[in-house]
Amino acid sequence: PLIKDLFGLTDLEVRLARRLGLKKVVIVPGDADQSDWVKKEMGRSGARLLRQMARPDQVVAVTGGTTVAALAEMMTPTPSLKSTMFVPARGGLGEAVELESNYIASLMAKKTGGDYRLMHVPDQLSDEAREMLLREPHIQEVMELLRKARIVVHGIGEATKMAIRRKSSPDEVAHIQHSGAVGEAFGYYLNSSGEIVSRVRTVGLQLEDLGEIESIIAIAGGRSKAQAIAAVCPAVGNDVLITDEAAARAILEET
Ligand code: BG6
Repeated sequence: PLIKDLFGLTDLEVRLARRLGLKKVVIVPGDADQSDWVKKEMGRSGARLLRQMARPDQVVAVTGGTTVAALAEMMTPTPSLKSTMFVPARGGLGEAVELESNYIASLMAKKTGGDYRLMHVPDQLSDEAREMLLREPHIQEVMELLRKARIVVHGIGEATKMAIRRKSSPDEVAHIQHSGAVGEAFGYYLNSSGEIVSRVRTVGLQLEDLGEIESIIAIAGGRSKAQAIAAVCPAVGNDVLITDEAAARAILEET
């Protein structure tokens, strides 16, 4: 806390929380765009927060990405996390395997001694295929768990960058760019007013389901994500944001 005050980060946390309508903001010093160490520190703060919030026998839903992965890496066994069930928030979104929510849910379970379920769903489902998959018993089991989720942890990405990372076709990337999308979370692409302009069709939590969940924690930093964070957090209805100083200052000054 002392170090934070020296950097003026406590004041920044309060201002950013007010600006984005969040219950709580945690800011680590630095810029994740410049140094991987900053992402690790965000992960450490996130892991600490989850440990403090944990209740026995809870369900925690997670999305993918390098930042949520950094949080997973920092998790340690505690009694409440040992009885936690970790589940992927959404099915395939086109990520590399080590960045997939499935893998991250299993990593969290491994680090904490908790349990996990996987959701084996391919990316980019047709409506028909999705309807069929939703009738599969193993998908239904995960959907049931998701309905009981107490906490959701998710990353936030820059829209175009995420579309490219997901190997969307050039047409889809162009569509996302022209739609004015700046941010992405849960496979939804949002413009700077927080409106959904595009989405990846898959099973799992939909944006409208998030209202039922007790705590929604976003973890995202780096100056380049300022616009994305400013668009996503109010739209998702986040309670907590874990970010870094560079993103925080850019959001307050530029968005
Ligand atoms: C993806 C999630 O896996 O990670 C996205 O599906 C999120 O919703 C993205 O925006 C964030 O990735 P990173 O690596 O920037 O933390």
